[in-house]
Amino acid sequence: MTALGLSLPRVDARAKVTGEAQYPGDINLPGQLWMKVLFARRPHARINRLDTSQAERAPGVIRVFTARDVPVNEFGLIFFDAPVMIGESETVRWIGEKIVCVVAETESQAEHARDLIEVEYQDLPALTDVHNAMQESAAQIHPHYARNIMKHIPIRKGDTARGFEQADVVVESVYHTPAQEHAYLQPEAGVSYIDDAGRVTIAAAGQWAHEDQQQIAHALDLPVEKVRVIYPAIGGAFGGREDMSVQIILALAAWRLNRPVKIIWTREESMIAHHKRHPMWLTAKWGATRDGKLVAAEVEVIADAGPYAYTSTKVLGNAALACTGPYAIPNIKVDAYAVVTNNVVTGAFRGFGGPQGHFAAETQMNKLAEKLGMDPVELRMKNLLREGDLLSTQTPLPGGVVSLRQVVEKCAEEFGWKAESGKQKAEGSFAIRNSQFARGIGFACALKNIGFSFGFPEGATATVELRGAVEIEHAIVHHAGAEVGQGAHTVMAQVAAQVLKLPVEKIELVASDTATSGNSGSASASRLTWMVAHSVRGAAEAALQKWREEERPAIATYEYSAPPTDNYAPEDGRGKTNIAYGYVAQAVEVEVDRETGQVRVVRVTCADDVGRAVNPQMIQGQIEGAIAQAQGWAITENFLQKDGRVLTPYFSNYLIPGVMDVPDRVDSVIMEFPDENGAWGIRGMAEMPFIPLAPAIVAAVHNATGAWIDELPLTPGRVVEKIKSNREERKERNE
Ligand code: MOS
Repeated sequence: MTALGLSLPRVDARAKVTGEAQYPGDINLPGQLWMKVLFARRPHARINRLDTSQAERAPGVIRVFTARDVPVNEFGLIFFDAPVMIGESETVRWIGEKIVCVVAETESQAEHARDLIEVEYQDLPALTDVHNAMQESAAQIHPHYARNIMKHIPIRKGDTARGFEQADVVVESVYHTPAQEHAYLQPEAGVSYIDDAGRVTIAAAGQWAHEDQQQIAHALDLPVEKVRVIYPAIGGAFGGREDMSVQIILALAAWRLNRPVKIIWTREESMIAHHKRHPMWLTAKWGATRDGKLVAAEVEVIADAGPYAYTSTKVLGNAALACTGPYAIPNIKVDAYAVVTNNVVTGAFRGFGGPQGHFAAETQMNKLAEKLGMDPVELRMKNLLREGDLLSTQTPLPGGVVSLRQVVEKCAEEFGWKAESGKQKAEGSFAIRNSQFARGIGFACALKNIGFSFGFPEGATATVELRGAVEIEHAIVHHAGAEVGQGAHTVMAQVAAQVLKLPVEKIELVASDTATSGNSGSASASRLTWMVAHSVRGAAEAALQKWREEERPAIATYEYSAPPTDNYAPEDGRGKTNIAYGYVAQAVEVEVDRETGQVRVVRVTCADDVGRAVNPQMIQGQIEGAIAQAQGWAITENFLQKDGRVLTPYFSNYLIPGVMDVPDRVDSVIMEFPDENGAWGIRGMAEMPFIPLAPAIVAAVHNATGAWIDELPLTPGRVVEKIKSNREERKERNE
């Protein structure tokens, strides 16, 4: 009997499609109260006076919480640098700052009372431009971050000046990638209550229950055991639930009031008050020899962190590695900065710095290919990292086979790259293609680390319990790994079934509750399948051993610890920063309306090395989902902020792709080159297919129109303008 490698139905599918599944907003408890938050809605201000007296007297109001009520008024996944609430005489640093939490008998009473709160602000100048914020003369926004620089990562390998001396062609560009909203199905929501054991309990969506528990306990100044975190069904996360939103304030209210409390943020509140993908500015200079060997790359990365760290320093770490792409480059100089501003705070989002870094790296490669008159796939094949080659960090890629060449070759083959580009050549270049609709093709590839990396201890714990007398009748798996919609719980069941040689139906999951499971680490960094496979396998094997020793029930806990990693060495970025990688390549075909600037993605081929496919259909789902999400980032999702305020807080003006927008066709090619350190060779894959899409689309738009567009998203106005300016430049050069 085998369960690994089968496209078994998801264990959560039935409850989700029938509506039986309880999302945080669906949970109602007897006697529950409702909470509403007063957000600052201004980017930078001092609170001179805060008067909640009218709100306190309003009908139905039970209690009004302010900063003074938070025992330890700070939180943060990396540093405790963000306040839970901002009080009188304190400073608001972004629009999503929480000022007051009102708790009332009904939601509308809470809302009404919130509107009676009087706050006297003294507005301060908002620093919203990263370049200005980095100036010596700029005012310091956060006391921890001198010169508004939260983090600087330098990477030095070889000597770029000498490298560029060998270059026959050099490409220099400045790229900009925008913020992105996670747009998960359910906005932030949850309930809190005191459970039978007297623990303050929070049922809300997240990505790492035990970390949420730690942060809540810290802010409430409670022992960790006094806090319990439960994950109900989660309507997507994508990194957007890595940081605290409603958890601490919910816990505070239930703890103080000893009554259940519920909150649901509106979509608009979600849009302005949880972090976004980091906008980045990447200045890149790359050189290659005439025969297509990369000789040097210099990249400066500037990331807008907003006022607090969230996961910014780690996202920056990934961007610093990704910005030189999956290539063996002898001479590298990278300087990456996370800069503090008064914009909406930024943090984790699928790809975690990888998409931004690769957008620059891969567009540099496509431009170099053009300058060299070389096919972009061929140029890649000459430079892709191989086993033993050194990354910018001067360490090789771990895990045995480095399948970059294989994914690139396979992707090109399945897409029909040679035939397509041959056809393009035969039909003539874009310059003579004068029709309104022009088609083009583009290529990009990527690597992405798996796991927390940078020296953070990494692992996962699972407990497996075997019940029965003679035969194992059923098995219970305790695991805290979050089912954020990616299929993690199905993976857990499949892994347990595989080891125990049981049908999946006999595996029961007790999941995502800090009271019943050990720490699993987070559902992030494409790590969960990798970690779950080790932890559930270990626990299942240990339980089987006990079963053979006649223990009934046979219960075993296994704590998997991953190989250690290094943080970047502070002077040159040297280090073994990651335990494992996944590799991916994409080829796309687009159609550009040269009059309106509309870009339609016609088809995408994605080759993704997942090491070992636990559930191929779920992988296909991840690939198609990642492509839709990346297409939004690349083309339609225009998250606009002006002076620190969000101009697009609704889905009516922040446009995520709908069913009519996604590609007509996505060919998912699942490859399986085992990772030496992964259980059964498993690699992670959830983020990878997001990463190459934007640069592949930009290359395809260039192929169709002649214009290079270095700034996302490819809104119609921007595309039309670039086509026009490109045409004019060419005319001037008499091309
Ligand atoms: Mo993720 S962006 O590592 O949740």
